[in-house]
Amino acid sequence: MTTATPPKQNRRPKTRHGSDRVPHAAKLYHNLVPAYQALWPAVAGRNIRSAIASVDMPDGASVLEVGVGTGLALPFYPKNIRLTGIDLSEAMLAEAETLIQRRGWDHMSVRPMNAEHLEFDDNQFDVVTSFHTVSVVSDPEKMMREIVRVCRPGGRILIVNHFRSENPLIARVVDSAGNVTRRLGWRTDLELQEIVHELPIRVDARYKPSPFSFFTIMQATCKPDQVSV
Ligand SMILES: C[S@@+](CC[C@H](N)C(=O)[O-])C[C@H]1O[C@@H](n2cnc3c(N)ncnc32)[C@H](O)[C@@H]1O
Repeated sequence: MTTATPPKQNRRPKTRHGSDRVPHAAKLYHNLVPAYQALWPAVAGRNIRSAIASVDMPDGASVLEVGVGTGLALPFYPKNIRLTGIDLSEAMLAEAETLIQRRGWDHMSVRPMNAEHLEFDDNQFDVVTSFHTVSVVSDPEKMMREIVRVCRPGGRILIVNHFRSENPLIARVVDSAGNVTRRLGWRTDLELQEIVHELPIRVDARYKPSPFSFFTIMQATCKPDQVSV
């Protein structure tokens, strides 16, 4: 698979109504790219690396990363897979594209797409990952339903994100920061249970990368009841 750069006019993300108006998240992340590149890798890189290392990705596995951003996670995947990354923000994707081309990773490609309306067939991917995106999209439950739809039965889902603490005291303190983080398009009050409870998945692991980490890593198996034995 090659990293084709789609023609400029096709790279503009569509809204859910198919119009050409660029959604809020795309504009926001367009403006944030420089700050994001400077600060975010130090905050998030290590968690993503260890999360990816914890999931088996066999030779030739087809992997989808939802909300690939600037491609922070791309160096951490094994080289024997085929990866597609999607994101709503053209500016973020341009950074990911540059990284892919610079490193000559012809097993990876990125394209503009809305996580809430994935343009893929059902059961298309062996592994679907998403890092720090589910609390940014406007409808997290819809994004999760889409992830499950495109992941094959028995496939793996890997999510790294901040979720509301189960400790009420910590949850209240973090909730109070919500007014600030919402301006960055980022909810702090999303509960993991809220987005997984009705999905046909089995949560295999849910843990913090370190005791005081803000983030949670979740690994799940997709549609385990449909796996033929
Ligand atoms: C906090 S960033 C995380 C990026 C990357 N996963 C990382 O960890 O560095 C959130 C990303 O979600 C993207 N995003 C927001 N809403 C989206 C949507 N509806 N569909 C696809 N991507 C979206 C933003 O453009 C941004 O790149």
